[in-house]
Amino acid sequence: MTERARKIRSYLENLNIFEDEICLPPVPEPEPRELRVLHGSIDPLPVNLESFGKSISSCQKCPLGKTRTKFVFGDGNPEARIVFVGEAPGGEEDRTGIPFVGRAGKLLDEMLSEVGLTRQHVYICNTLKCRPPNNRDPEESEKAACRPYLRTQLSLISPDIIVCLGRHAASELLGTDEAMGRLRGRVFPYEGMQALVTYHPAYYLRNMTQRVHGESDFQQLRKLFDELPPR
Ligand code: URA
Repeated sequence: MTERARKIRSYLENLNIFEDEICLPPVPEPEPRELRVLHGSIDPLPVNLESFGKSISSCQKCPLGKTRTKFVFGDGNPEARIVFVGEAPGGEEDRTGIPFVGRAGKLLDEMLSEVGLTRQHVYICNTLKCRPPNNRDPEESEKAACRPYLRTQLSLISPDIIVCLGRHAASELLGTDEAMGRLRGRVFPYEGMQALVTYHPAYYLRNMTQRVHGESDFQQLRKLFDELPPR
């Protein structure tokens, strides 16, 4: 037996001897987090985000249920303090079932990384969970059908900050039809949270010169995040 093996054996034997004398303090259960339940959430609130997503993934409440390939519930950290809300899945999202994985999504990832954040820090979802054909604008009836899903999702995550990506998210959550030029970069109180409005990343793909606004909004987001009190 080598010296190293002898040492390991003696260590294990010692462990054996003292096994029932080792008294480790119990690991405390994490305190359950108090959720902010948004009005219009499903009542009673589902037990958790994952089971909720599964339970609605065959939704046929609106005609998009017939035309979608995949239901795109959301992605990221279910305990995130920041939630991004976009418009609706596009082609790539419809194929994969994951939000913001196309060109706009790549840009979103880049903008997050520029302020030291990743998808693991945030949660990403949309006002609609299914792709409108040819990426047309969401219709009012579709938004109404999906509304309880978004509200319930936000309640289960209970973030501190919501980022509205573009006018559809801003009008869905803040109930405003003000122009994006006037809304962007502003923070609104929203059901006990802070809602920051910024342009949709697809807008920057079409207007790269406007990206300075995105950079400044994401820096503002980082500042809001850094100023959050500990949970
Ligand atoms: N645009 C959105 O609004 N959402 C996505 O998931 C992808 C593109």
